[in-house]
Amino acid sequence: MCHDRAMPFDHNDHYHRLLLRQLPHGCRTALDVGCGTGRFARRLAERGIEVDAIDPSAEVIDAARALSPGPGGGRPAPRFRRADVTRTVLPREHYDFVSCLASLHHMPFGTVAALRDALAPGGVLAVLGCYPEVSAADRAWSLAAVPANAAARLAVAVGERVRPSRGGPGRFTGVRTPSVRAPVKRPEMPLEEVRREAAALLPGSTLRRLLFWRYLLVYRKPGGR
Ligand SMILES: C[S@@+](CC[C@H](N)C(=O)[O-])C[C@H]1O[C@@H](n2cnc3c(N)ncnc32)[C@H](O)[C@@H]1O
Repeated sequence: MCHDRAMPFDHNDHYHRLLLRQLPHGCRTALDVGCGTGRFARRLAERGIEVDAIDPSAEVIDAARALSPGPGGGRPAPRFRRADVTRTVLPREHYDFVSCLASLHHMPFGTVAALRDALAPGGVLAVLGCYPEVSAADRAWSLAAVPANAAARLAVAVGERVRPSRGGPGRFTGVRTPSVRAPVKRPEMPLEEVRREAAALLPGSTLRRLLFWRYLLVYRKPGGR
């Protein structure tokens, strides 16, 4: 299951740096799908990227807006919008980068076709995905992740004591909002099925299993730069 905030060590946040490394050179526009309270969208905006960030949950969109700098805040803010991506017409060939963190399993996998079509030539789609434990390989990875997870949580908790959070709620505004948790859902699509569907819908994409119960799927649209 994918979890959200109020964790000493958040698996999705842990992979932000890896996701940021997928940004195409000269990236100017991005869409974050299933943005939750907007932590990754803000990281994109901090890089001067114009960010659209969508989520159907009114509660998380309100929290995302409250946690982001307002006009005149001196920093760029994502444009947060309450929307279900499966019912939204996305602009064609528009975004340099589309991200989907721990949210693709909330929607039909075929949604990636709409995300692919929204990419500008040379643009990149990066999916941080969740999958269920169904195979022996899944269970072996999970076993390896458990002690690493415990060690990482401990390290983060100790770090927080020594140096209280700079990245928590209120990072930009100084305003503490009530702790809001993005909706979570148990993933159902096995990793091997994700691999097959991705090969069909996103030809040339790469899929990599990550340690903490996640995979990274990256597709670069041909053309452009
Ligand atoms: C586990 S949370 C992940 C939140 C955030 N991406 C993160 O990394 O913390 C999954 C998010 O996907 C959103 N979601 C579910 N269905 C969606 C849809 N059809 N379109 C866009 N977002 C959706 C949920 O509301 C939820 O905020």
